[in-house]
Amino acid sequence: MRLDKFLCEMNVGTRSQVKDYIRKGMVTVNEQIVKKPEEKIEPSTDVIAFQGERIAYQQYYYYMLNKPAGVVSATKDNMDKTVLELIATKRNDIFPVGRLDKDTEGLLLLTNDGALAHNMLSPKKHVDKTYLVTIKKELNADEIAALEQGVDIGDDKLTAPAKVEILDEAHMYLTIHEGRFHQVKRMLKAVNNEVLGLKRIRFGALFLDERLAPGEYRELTSQEVDKLHETKNDG
Ligand code: URA
Repeated sequence: MRLDKFLCEMNVGTRSQVKDYIRKGMVTVNEQIVKKPEEKIEPSTDVIAFQGERIAYQQYYYYMLNKPAGVVSATKDNMDKTVLELIATKRNDIFPVGRLDKDTEGLLLLTNDGALAHNMLSPKKHVDKTYLVTIKKELNADEIAALEQGVDIGDDKLTAPAKVEILDEAHMYLTIHEGRFHQVKRMLKAVNNEVLGLKRIRFGALFLDERLAPGEYRELTSQEVDKLHETKNDG
């Protein structure tokens, strides 16, 4: 990787700022001043310092976003604002892990760790996703049982067993491990109800940080990242 690209990705400055810093002799590679921005370095083994301070290399980035309604879970969109536009990063390899509908709020993981994303989305991993669902009318016991056992949403098979926790007549938590298109909305429709509001609060080992207002995000803690990797490794 080029030295200026490395420094830029590690947020030392913009591309033109870091070129300037390098030319001024403010950057060392393995304790030698290097004045060429295009110098090739090996990020994981070379020791890069800016003004005498080591710049640690971070290969993977993990962000938890509280997705607001009205924003699409894509990296590019001609019509709508994307979740990526909410994340201030100079990297161009960050993407959302899975999708939430445009009108759905809540927990969305964004990363550049393709292997982790693949595992989190693999149907074989049965990663639990919990939604806070606002419904049009109160559910009766039969409807709750149907949602938990599996309902016909028009696909070739019923939905897999799910977990319902009723909060009050208009709110429930629904935990599913599949990720079919519009699944929660279609499940409620299958029991003659309607979703009026949808917010994801859990994605596998990750829980939405309630301190994040819609549109806000933070990097995952190292404990959260470790927990996600356990998901990846357990089968
Ligand atoms: N189910 C839905 O219907 N929409 C979502 O955004 C997520 C799950």
